Amino acid sequence: MKERLQKLLSQSGICSRRKAEEYIQSGRVMVNGVMAQLGDKASFEEDTVTVDGKPIAPEEKKLYIMLNKPKGFVTTMSDEKGRKTVWDLVKECQVRVWPVGRLDLNSEGLLIMTNDGDLTQRLIHPSHMIEKEYVTWVSGNVEKAVPILQTKIVDAGEVFLPAKVKVIRQFEHVSVISITIHEGKKHQVRRMCAHAALTVKRLIRVREGFLHLDKQLKKGEWRHLNESEIAQLTK
Ligand code: URA
Repeated sequence: MKERLQKLLSQSGICSRRKAEEYIQSGRVMVNGVMAQLGDKASFEEDTVTVDGKPIAPEEKKLYIMLNKPKGFVTTMSDEKGRKTVWDLVKECQVRVWPVGRLDLNSEGLLIMTNDGDLTQRLIHPSHMIEKEYVTWVSGNVEKAVPILQTKIVDAGEVFLPAKVKVIRQFEHVSVISITIHEGKKHQVRRMCAHAALTVKRLIRVREGFLHLDKQLKKGEWRHLNESEIAQLTK
């Protein structure tokens, strides 16, 4: 359906409808190679609309998803080895959303997925110091390990900053500890634990910044973030 050009320009995220009137009046907008007049209509499907010579297209709606990632899924959109991916779990959302940061194949829990590139950059950049909290089932001597985890660790030439650590529960052979870090280096928590002589049995990300893993989400389930969560994430 043909719509007024002002509407198409605002749907493409170029400018407001009011500003679009100015663009049209100043001759910056063309429809199929002809300079547009105020009042002209066009459609994204049938016509080529340009602003300053550049074609415009509808802006993709931004989507923000929280997935409770189960074990055994790769944190990518497609896998050359044919393994199951997190995209397989969320694809019914019908928008190509990608994972923000990584969770190992056998790690579980909170994974944000979005098609918002700016947000992705912001969340994964270490300068933003967003806390990531992992509940970790480990075997080994926790009393000895905790102070090591709370100190700077150098592993294979890579520096891991001190973690915040809480012991949640201790059983005979396994302990449950919470480890909070700011960085997102490859296998970071597992490598930190190995350095502290702990063996990781299970690793669940339960929080990123203010965003907690929704306990209502079963493994493999996802939900859209609500407006207030999106506002806090994107502010
Ligand atoms: N640290 C790890 O070692 N693995 C993860 O999946 C996340 C953090």
